[in-house]
Amino acid sequence: MSDTRIVKLPPEVVGQIAAGEVVERPAAAIKEMVENSMDAGATAITVDITDGGLTHMRVTDNGSGIKGRDLRLAFERHATSKIRSADDLAHISTLGFRGEALASIAAVSRVTLVTRPKGEDFGMQVRNEGGMYEGPVEAASPEGTTITVRDLFFNTPARRKFLGKPGTEANQVSDLMMRMILSHPEIAFRLVSDRKTIYTSPGDGRIDSAVMSIYGVQTLRQLIRVHGAQSGLVLDGFVGVGEASRANRSHQSFFLNGRAMRSELLSRAVEEACRQRVMIGRFPLCVLYLTMPFEHVDVNVHPNKWEVRFQDENAVAQAVTAIVTDALSLGAAQLPPPSMFEESAPPAPPAAITKEEPVAQPAPSWHVRSSAWETPPVVKEGPVARETPAPAPEPE
Ligand SMILES: Nc1ncnc2c1ncn2[C@@H]1O[C@H](COP(=O)(O)OP(=O)(O)OP(=O)(O)O)[C@@H](O)[C@H]1O
Ligand SMILES: [Mg+2]
Repeated sequence: MSDTRIVKLPPEVVGQIAAGEVVERPAAAIKEMVENSMDAGATAITVDITDGGLTHMRVTDNGSGIKGRDLRLAFERHATSKIRSADDLAHISTLGFRGEALASIAAVSRVTLVTRPKGEDFGMQVRNEGGMYEGPVEAASPEGTTITVRDLFFNTPARRKFLGKPGTEANQVSDLMMRMILSHPEIAFRLVSDRKTIYTSPGDGRIDSAVMSIYGVQTLRQLIRVHGAQSGLVLDGFVGVGEASRANRSHQSFFLNGRAMRSELLSRAVEEACRQRVMIGRFPLCVLYLTMPFEHVDVNVHPNKWEVRFQDENAVAQAVTAIVTDALSLGAAQLPPPSMFEESAPPAPPAAITKEEPVAQPAPSWHVRSSAWETPPVVKEGPVARETPAPAPEPE
């Protein structure tokens, strides 16, 4: 470039550059939209993707909706309904607060948003293509919000080149949704990929229901219930050995104080306990919820909060190994009777395994990223989908 003057970049270029940090791939955009739905108090969220989200993704919720006066602002950078001042940053109770996600998604795709706030007679539709806002127009809509995103990175070909094949992107989305379902049993989720239902969770608040929606009733029956406390941590959930073991670690899910996390330390601690019960080359399946005091964990290792550092790693590892070892020694005796999981007549169990929301938790954070961890294949192992609210009609 011969012209070396410093110039201010046009706003649309600034927007596209910033967008790259928020929406690096379809799963990241879906994470932002689903978190918005959760912040809006949704109890049912449907995610529908085509070609791994590359050509089309849609998130439908039954949350609060967006008022007409706020529609344009929702797409503006640094515009949020969630905080008002720097003071609010100290006690954020929502998943979002930067006011950036929708603006970023719209800067690099074609977005249609249809929304009807609770109590309003009709809905509104707006469009935003590459940052060009259009609308609103009246539109039929159930209560809640539906956001459709088409042609991700249509105006930034350099970024499009870094996207994976549709199958890879679909796996990332299903990995994200698996963790969403497992950490939010109180929300009815549905994931549809290329018209096939991948996951449906009932949203009844029970961990075993959430686990069943991911792994199906057969696997759930094989899992061993883990519950124990040691060295200041409480461990709760399920572990699968023998036939329920897996070929990789992608089915090891850990949640710390309500937040999904990756931890080699915890994987190894569980594997140590399961060594005698898992063949070489296989890995135990686990869905484990850890609760421990915040001062014993540092979640600020990485901005994505995906990794955590324990103050006393050895104590944590030993406690996890000990609790899982105990659970394995009790084995199947700990399993509830299989009939409890029958789909046809789900009886009320004597003691519901309900996920308790830890008190004064920071909002759970989700982050999907590609790493050495293999992602699960998009294969529905779960039972036939139960119904959650149908997505809103496709806005055109
Ligand atoms: N599904 C939804 N239901 C209701 N309101 C929504 C929904 N999605 C977005 N909004 C509104 O649009 C605003 C902008 O959303 P956006 O995701 O861009 O920012 P944010 O959630 O406030 O912060 P962050 O960038 O950290 O996610 C939100 O503050 C919220 O008021
Ligand atoms: Mg948001």
